[in-house]
Parts: sequence; C-alpha cells; structure tokens
Amino acid sequence: MQTFLITGGAGFIGSNFILKARKEQWANIINLDKLTYASNPLTLAELQDDSGYNFVRGDIGDIELINNFLDQHQPDAIINFAAESHVDRSILSPQDFIQTNVLGTFQLLEASRAYYEKLSAQRQKQFRFLHISTDEVYGSLTQTDPAFREDTPYAPNSPYAASKAGSDHLVRAYYHTYGLPTLTTNCSNNYGPRQFPEKLIPLIILNALNGKPLPIYGDGQNIRDWLYVEDHCEAVYLVLQQSSIGETYNIGGNNEQTNLAVVEKICALLDELAPKPNFHYSSLITFVKDRPGHDRRYAIDSSKIKQDLGWEPKESFDSGLLKTIQWYLNNSTWVEQVQSGAYHTWIQQNYGDRKAALSH
Ligand code: NAD
Ligand code: TYD
Repeated sequence: MQTFLITGGAGFIGSNFILKARKEQWANIINLDKLTYASNPLTLAELQDDSGYNFVRGDIGDIELINNFLDQHQPDAIINFAAESHVDRSILSPQDFIQTNVLGTFQLLEASRAYYEKLSAQRQKQFRFLHISTDEVYGSLTQTDPAFREDTPYAPNSPYAASKAGSDHLVRAYYHTYGLPTLTTNCSNNYGPRQFPEKLIPLIILNALNGKPLPIYGDGQNIRDWLYVEDHCEAVYLVLQQSSIGETYNIGGNNEQTNLAVVEKICALLDELAPKPNFHYSSLITFVKDRPGHDRRYAIDSSKIKQDLGWEPKESFDSGLLKTIQWYLNNSTWVEQVQSGAYHTWIQQNYGDRKAALSH
C-alpha cells in the first residue's frame, strides 16, 4: 500500500480525508501538523491503534524537520492541507497567513524537490505533490458573472485569499521550473463534521444550541457554493490517482446559497432535531457589521473535473446539513474541547466590536 504524507491533517478537511483514507484503505498515512488552535487531538483519537496511521507534530516551514521526515518516511505522495484558513483571522492578524501559507508552502516545496530528486526513476513517475487551495483566489463575482473556471484570472481580496494565491503560484512554478509533479485543487466552501466553530455553519449550529445570537454579516445576501467535506475528499483522491501532472481542478458543490438562507435552513433543522417549546431558533438571527472587503459571491464551474475524471458531488445540501448538525449534537465532548479559553478570546475579538448593526 502507498504512503501519503498529509500536512494539516488534524484540521477540518485533512482529518476527514485521513479517516476516509484509512477506512477505504486508500493508503497508509503520516500526518504532520503543527497543532494550532484549529486542530483538536480528539479528532483522530479513533485511529490511535491503527498501525497504518502515524502522527508527527511539526511545522511545514521547518525545512530541516521536513527534510529528515521525508528521508525517513519515504512517502509516495504529499497532500498539503496545512494552512491558516479563516478569513476573519487574516483580517485581524495577517502575519501568520504569510508565514504558513506562503513561506511554509515554499519550504515544503523546497524539501519536496530535494526529496523528489533523490527518488529512483520508477518512484519519481509515481510521486505527486497535491496542493489544496480555495476558490477565494479568484476574487468576487456579481450576480450575473459566470462561475470560476480554472482559467479565471486570480484576483484575491483578503489576506487569506492572497496568501493562498501566493502558494498556488509557487506550486505552479515548481512544476514548470523544476519538474516537480504537482497538482492543485481549488475548492469552494466546505461543511461537515469536525469543522472548527469559527466558520459560519458550525458557529451557527453551536450558538443556536446555546441560545446565543446568530451573527450575520452585512445584509446576509453574500453567496457561497457549499460542498460536503466527504465529496471534497473523494475529489482530492481522484485527482491524486488519475490527473495528469501540472493540472489544476476546481471543485464545487453546484450549491449556491445566500448566508441568510443557510442560517435559516440550520434553524429550521434545529427546530425539528432539538425543539424548544414556543421558540424558533431563527429568532436568534442578528445582523451585524459587515466583514471588511467581504466578497459578494463565489461560484465554481466544476465541468473540468466532471469531464476529465467523472467526479460529481454525491451529497445534497439538505442531507449534508442534516448529517452535520447530527454530528455536532452527538459530539459534545469534541465541542467542549475546542471551545476552550482561546476560543472565547477569539469570539470577543471578532464579534465584540460588531454589535447588532441592523435589527432583524
Ligand atoms: P483548518 O484551519 O481546519 O486546519 C488547518 C490545519 O493545518 C490545522 O490542523 C493546523 O494545526 C494545521 N497547520 C496550520 N499551520 C501549520 C503549519 N505551519 N504546519 C503544519 N500544520 C499547520 O483548515 P481546513 O478548513 O481543514 O482547510 C484545509 C485546507 O483546505 C487549507 O489549505 C484551506 O485553505 C483549504 N480550503 C478550505 C476550505 C474550507 O471551506 N474549509 C475550502 C477550500 C479550501
Ligand atoms: P466563512 O465560514 O468564514 O467562510 P469564507 O469567508 O471562507 O467564505 O464564512 C462564510 C460566509 O458567512 C461569508 O460570506 C461570511 C459569512 N459569515 C457571517 O455572516 N457571520 C459569521 O459569523 C461568519 C463566521 C461568517
């Protein structure tokens, strides 16, 4: 069986990928993660007795550690999920985003290139460096613009998006300049189990269950294209197995929703799953001051991955959201663990000054 090095595998998407990879026996996994605030040791606790899974704490920007690590573990592929990933945090403190997303990816590419050059011709043919990126690198769409394609020009608007765009360009350059066999995927907003509750969907589920306000930035009409995380993981594996090297693929859910519609859907599902007498969760909806530079609309044109690799999302938004809410209802220990002191500090930092800007 092949061995994959997963970076950032203790975060949301990486952990879902690892659990699926072990369940489906896609590969043995070594997970290299710095364990920032966004990770949770409980997330992969179920793999503690799995001999096909190994965890190493480390930073993708620590080139010495990565050099030794690659020589020791000899992976057949590297999938780079590691990143600072939250737009609001990138607005309040962009430094960490440049450090990990740009410089960290650069160091990881350097180490991968040195490692690749030492591989036998046979192993070089099989080796892949797959970089996980986002649709946010393409900027913002109007209501009538066509969806993002792989050849849409990059126009990142937030420090997060700019740092991911920088990393995508470096990955591209390492393919064209050094022949490193890279692949890049640009995915839309993911949702599902194990997402840190700073992102919209888990934040709304947990605030609602705790009777707290449900903060909607601006007028709530910003649009995102939501994809269930397992669909994303399957697309990543398919690209890794079947794509020609140097390719990029957009991955989306064909599921554009306004933020207000998403929050109202969560409230309606919670009214059924966790009903409270004479109370509707939607009464907690609170419009607050907008995010600076808030992109209006994202939409993905997934026709290339559908045509080339036959991938399409399997989960509908209704069924995916139901599974997600049920997961948060059934995993209160995980939730308590991530809502630690540092989480409260973040909530105060991000929402303290927003207050209710508009009534609902
Ligand atoms: P996340 O924030 O939940 O997890 C990121 C993980 O990376 C954490 O476990 C963290 O500890 C680790 N990490 C951070 N800096 C590191 C470093 N320097 N070295 C090693 N590990 C480090 O993020 P996520 O939502 O799982 O996103 C994973 C990837 O997918 C990111 O690259 C992100 O840009 C991309 N992406 C995310 C979404 C989404 O909706 N969440 C959509 C498209 C693309
Ligand atoms: P988020 O989950 O942070 O993802 P991204 O900014 O990467 O798309 O936010 C999704 C959308 O929800 C985005 O338009 C911002 C909005 N949002 C709110 O309205 N309120 C909130 O408290 C948060 C965190 C996000």
